[in-house]
Amino acid sequence: MSRTALITGITGQDGAYLAKLLLDKGYQVHGMMRRSSTETLERITDIREDIEIHQGDLLDQLSLVRLLEETQPTELYNLAAQSFVPTSWSQPILTGETTGLGVTRILEAIRQVNPAIRMYQASSSEMFGKVQETPQTESTPFYPRSPYGVAKVYGYWITINYRESYDLFASNGILFNHESPLRGLEFVTRKITDGVARIKLGVQDKLLLGNLEAKRDWGFAGDFVNAMWLMLQADKPDDYVVATGEQHSVREFCEIAFDTVGLKLEDYVGVDPRFYRPAEVETLLGDPTKARTELGWEPEISFEQLVTMMVEEDLQRIEREIKIGS
Ligand code: NAP
Ligand code: GDD
Repeated sequence: MSRTALITGITGQDGAYLAKLLLDKGYQVHGMMRRSSTETLERITDIREDIEIHQGDLLDQLSLVRLLEETQPTELYNLAAQSFVPTSWSQPILTGETTGLGVTRILEAIRQVNPAIRMYQASSSEMFGKVQETPQTESTPFYPRSPYGVAKVYGYWITINYRESYDLFASNGILFNHESPLRGLEFVTRKITDGVARIKLGVQDKLLLGNLEAKRDWGFAGDFVNAMWLMLQADKPDDYVVATGEQHSVREFCEIAFDTVGLKLEDYVGVDPRFYRPAEVETLLGDPTKARTELGWEPEISFEQLVTMMVEEDLQRIEREIKIGS
């Protein structure tokens, strides 16, 4: 049977890894991207010829309906979102429209065009926010701490509501933080590895960060997109925590990143309160038992391997940039 997938958010970190995974599995892959005056395809240049890109926007219902009619997917992965937590305080309405209501628009388009489409919703550990128990599981109550987290809680429940109301195959992946060399530069891990590489190569003096004591359960994006795919191959739709089960602080991430290039964090890192958040998520730690036992999902890349991989790729990229500039 020919399998066709539509990925919203294909220009993002996860979109790029998922598109590659699905191509390897023999899918016809379509991606949705929003119109922009400059193209944002840099994460998928290597597979650009193998996928079809269409314009569409989570804010525009008709564009979603038209896209589903045109591409006739069997699986839809809804990865598009305003995903940067600090921006959700400066643009709370946009975040609600995109990250929250955008999910309803996708679900309505599925109902209208083909209710048999299987749908993955990119839910988030940010929904646990001020955590009510540790580790967090599928039954831990939510307590979001940002407009982004609140919007994701809405997206999570509307996915379940449409599943129960209209018998759709719609699943939530509650994914904990996952990173890679393709991570956006404003997220803390990539900000650190980019900064470490620049400091090592002599083009930056200092690295200014916010809360160094925040703890996260960080995994590798390449491992996590596999869990998305497994969810849509299951016999029934359901919701799963996807995490490594291991926790580290921002400070620990920094220490390993500086160690990788033979430097010491204390000599270069400063704290700048501008990077503090109005309400912080201090600690996240997931329990992936359900994903492991029911889906057979296991992460392969360790925390140390992840940090090293990101630092090394940033070193190579910045070296290339320096050569081109000189
Ligand atoms: P990302 O790199 O920020 O990518 C977000 C994608 O959404 C980009 O392709 C972006 O397009 C697109 N987008 C934003 N607004 C849109 C709109 N109005 N219409 C259409 N597309 C729009 O995020 P990611 O790290 O790949 O994460 C993927 C999804 O998983 C997101 O929903 C995120 O909230 C969620 N999530 C991520 C993590 C994580 O640790 N990475 C953990 C849990 C959940 P542009 O390129 O045009 O900006
Ligand atoms: N971005 C950033 N920049 N974060 C910093 C900094 C800094 O300079 N200094 C400390 N931090 C701390 C933040 O306060 C936060 O506690 C932690 O580092 C992680 O921040 P981010 O990397 O921005 O990620 P996030 O946890 O807020 O959100 C990411 O993970 C969520 C899943 O839990 C995003 O990918 C969300 O889209 C995702 O849902």
